[in-house]
Amino acid sequence: MTKPATLDPRPHGFDAWRAREDFPILKTEAHGKPLVYLDSAASAQKPRAVIEAVRHVYEAEYANIHRGVYELSEKTTAAFEGAREKVRAFLNAPEAREILFVRGATEGINLVAQSFGRAFLKEGDEIILSALEHHSNIVPWQLLRDITGIVLRVVPVNNAGELEIDAYAELLNTRTRLVAMTHVSNAIGTVTPIHDIVRLAHERGVPVLVDGCQAVPHQKVDVQDFDCDFYVFSGHKLYGPSGIGVLYGKAKHLEAMPPYQGGGDMIRSVTFEKTDYNVIPHKFEAGTPHIAGAIGLGAAIDYLEGLGIPEIMAHEQAVLHYATERLSRIRGLRPIGTAREKASILSFVLDRAHPHDVGTVLDGEGVAIRTGHHCAQPLMERFGIPATARASFGLYNTPEDVDALAAGLEKVLEIFG
Ligand code: ALA
Repeated sequence: MTKPATLDPRPHGFDAWRAREDFPILKTEAHGKPLVYLDSAASAQKPRAVIEAVRHVYEAEYANIHRGVYELSEKTTAAFEGAREKVRAFLNAPEAREILFVRGATEGINLVAQSFGRAFLKEGDEIILSALEHHSNIVPWQLLRDITGIVLRVVPVNNAGELEIDAYAELLNTRTRLVAMTHVSNAIGTVTPIHDIVRLAHERGVPVLVDGCQAVPHQKVDVQDFDCDFYVFSGHKLYGPSGIGVLYGKAKHLEAMPPYQGGGDMIRSVTFEKTDYNVIPHKFEAGTPHIAGAIGLGAAIDYLEGLGIPEIMAHEQAVLHYATERLSRIRGLRPIGTAREKASILSFVLDRAHPHDVGTVLDGEGVAIRTGHHCAQPLMERFGIPATARASFGLYNTPEDVDALAAGLEKVLEIFG
């Protein structure tokens, strides 16, 4: 594959052109054209290492976990708990028991809302969110509000889509019981100042939950460095399987919180009169989990660490800058979200065409982007628009992909004038 002279990310020590070979799907076509996949923020494609790891579980190492006295079950249990340890190291969490496997970030946030929220929050208590949040970090708190009478406060963003940190500091008060904030906006790419968010909250003794879905694929995350109380992410955005995700929680919180769901494996003993719960993390993992998913997620982490997260980040930032410059030359294109610190997500509107029309024309060219409100309707409202077109770049995207996007947008302009 040839590359434009304008950009060669290889000096960063990472070769995206070689990494593409690890992703079988990137060799497929859409509408008879080579697939140009620019929707990794919705879900990242899977490297062969992950596909093979999942296949290996089902072909050679599959049984239920934590229950069997036979060798096969013990092997599967070891692989599952090995994946938990990989996640622990990936997040630099102090202990593996602080890592809970859940279905995804959405379930992780619902778990905290229903367990921590119902146990410890009461009418009039306040939770601080931001205008950047995905619906999955809004609706669970509204469900909690409807049960408990808590109050939701929202930190605004400026015209660039950056969090207004002074407004955040003012919202923190003696009634604040929790801050739930995204690390990176899925819709417009803004990276929020997590260190400041946590520091200001902790000065008032307020715990912080961070939605890290869009951060973990792009940058090194260290929950001890952030000192956040909870951190959630989804496996499928990290090049792993769908249906598996992670909730990290400080042991002191998880131990104090009641179970979120009841069932097998989360108990020590059950009678019809009384149940004693298991220790963490098992207290929060009722029922047979997504065993192959967790092991596949462990394989995704191995794969990414083999490539180097800082190297991936440098490459993606180079592609983002190239794309930002390239798209600025498209007539009538307005970027939405121009924060100084951004992950590799580029949202925009065209003055001549609705985002859905943009997406449809691009699809005909083999270019896959996401269009719509990106499950962030309040943020769209903040910018006075119903939707955007969003290109999001993963480790396998190259300047050639950006050029295909730009050529597709020129075609949109030809059609819509
Ligand atoms: N949250 C995912 C996205 O941003 C689905 O597209």
